[in-house]
Amino acid sequence: MKATVIFHSVCGNTYLLAKEFYKSLNNLGFETSLYRVKDDDAKRWSEIFPSAEEYYDEVMALSEAKPENVLESDLIIYGSPNYCSNVSAEMKTFIDSTCMYYKDSLLEDKYFTCFATGEDRESGIDMCLTNMINYALGQCMIILPIPTKLKYEYSIPSCGITHNSGPLADKRPKEEIYIGIREYCKSIAAKILK
Ligand SMILES: Cc1cc2nc3c(=O)[nH]c(=O)nc-3n(C[C@H](O)[C@H](O)[C@H](O)COP(=O)(O)O)c2cc1C
Repeated sequence: MKATVIFHSVCGNTYLLAKEFYKSLNNLGFETSLYRVKDDDAKRWSEIFPSAEEYYDEVMALSEAKPENVLESDLIIYGSPNYCSNVSAEMKTFIDSTCMYYKDSLLEDKYFTCFATGEDRESGIDMCLTNMINYALGQCMIILPIPTKLKYEYSIPSCGITHNSGPLADKRPKEEIYIGIREYCKSIAAKILK
């Protein structure tokens, strides 16, 4: 089964979660790919922000996502930074590019989940996640919920995995978040890998 993780990240936090999804799903037997979305400003940010410089080369070494990458996939995972209580413009541009498949329902019944990072928990990150979930619902994809057990054990909100990177975007994810992603991926594998 093919899984594709597609993310936007400037300061590296969303990338770190994307990489953990990629590694976890690969380890569980999914044929997994990891792509970044196009970002024409990435170089400029990497020269201004120390946190944007740290993972710049690693992120740029990945291939840029194309809409056909989701078409070829059984499980689609999007990761976005929370920009003004929404997905970033770069992530939105990519998401919109896949809507060419809407008319013929080509994404119908594909599995979907998403994650997000933001400065803090209180500034709209749920809306960023909810917008991605609404997109997937619109495309008739199957949303993979966070199991209740994981919500209790790892404090993962119902709408998805999140990380708060702080005012300078330099608070990197702690081990608990990576463990939460690994456990969530195990629950996904148990549900859809036969
Ligand atoms: C244009 C812009 C808008 C942002 N808006 C919000 C916001 O509304 N709420 C919030 O919590 N964080 C906001 N942030 C902070 C980012 O979501 C946060 O730093 C995120 O972790 C960055 O992800 P990255 O490290 O993968 O680039 C914003 C950052 C930028 C650059």
